[in-house]
Amino acid sequence: MIEKIEQLLQEVDHLQASNTEELEALRIKYLSKKGAINALMADFRHVPADQKKAVGMRLNELKDKAQEKIAALKEQFEAQDTGLDDIDLTRTAYPVGLGTRHPLSIVKNEIIDIFARMGFNIANGPEVEDDLHVYTKLNFAADHPARDMQDTFFVNVNPNDVTKNIILRSHTSSVQVRTMEQAQPPIRVICPGRVYRNEAISYRAHCFFHQVEGLYIDKGVTFTDLKQVLLLFAQEMFGSDTKIRLRPSYFPFTEPSAEMDISCNICGGTGCPFCKQTGWVEILGCGMVDPNVLEACGIDSNVYSGYAFGMGIERITNLKYQVKDLRMFSENDTRFLREFEAAY
Ligand code: DAH
Repeated sequence: MIEKIEQLLQEVDHLQASNTEELEALRIKYLSKKGAINALMADFRHVPADQKKAVGMRLNELKDKAQEKIAALKEQFEAQDTGLDDIDLTRTAYPVGLGTRHPLSIVKNEIIDIFARMGFNIANGPEVEDDLHVYTKLNFAADHPARDMQDTFFVNVNPNDVTKNIILRSHTSSVQVRTMEQAQPPIRVICPGRVYRNEAISYRAHCFFHQVEGLYIDKGVTFTDLKQVLLLFAQEMFGSDTKIRLRPSYFPFTEPSAEMDISCNICGGTGCPFCKQTGWVEILGCGMVDPNVLEACGIDSNVYSGYAFGMGIERITNLKYQVKDLRMFSENDTRFLREFEAAY
């Protein structure tokens, strides 16, 4: 027995393992219930009484040594385990900066928020539209100049039927038509979206920009309702001191029509270069939905009336943040975008 113990002592002294599996195998071989050391412990009762003390001491030494050795190897592996498997070595060494919301998104969300609080739902429509929804059903005469090549981007021209022309929508009023076609009053929606016009790009015009359209159709809706909603919007958006004024105007799809100015929020109405010294800046077009439009969309104009309005998001953003050049909105210059980090 003593020889066996000495032999195991030697072995244990030189234990080596190159991975955790090998180490576990060694633990099982020496220290488990059915391992070598336990087997010797079981045989211990056969050791003659006079040798019991010496053999017992050596056997305990062996057990301690095996435990120590295996614990030491285990520690060594744990130290080596640097968690390399969890590290993405392809990741950039630089901190990844958080993005910011685009100023147009910030303002769009704010507009949506204000109208949502007044009970308006959001409606969406396609950017690639047909003439029927962009012009015809909105009471545009067949020879209306807005259909002209200079304004509209044509995707597909139908030589026989102008209403079948496929175009990029030039205003979000097309979503009014789609909404009225699909639902009966009461209808109360706002339609935010991108629109396209064939314009030369400059600091004050772009071939695409963004609008929010509003539409309310119900029994007994009047111009007073329109004015009050727009006043509330202007004061929520630009501050409670903001004044509005409505000037008579013309749009094919509204009668009567108006354009709305707000008191210039840059100079407070005293006159500055932005408002051309007038103290007022125009922000939207509006009016009572023309009965022809209601009828074209399947709504009985003898029963229902309604108002509509449409505004440019870029224009509102310029007023809020005084962005001098429209092109900055689509250049994705992060120095410009980062200026809006704190806005939302
Ligand atoms: N669609 C018009 C434009 O793009 C804006 C507009 C004016 C919308 C009056 C309306 C409205 O709904 O009633 O210039």
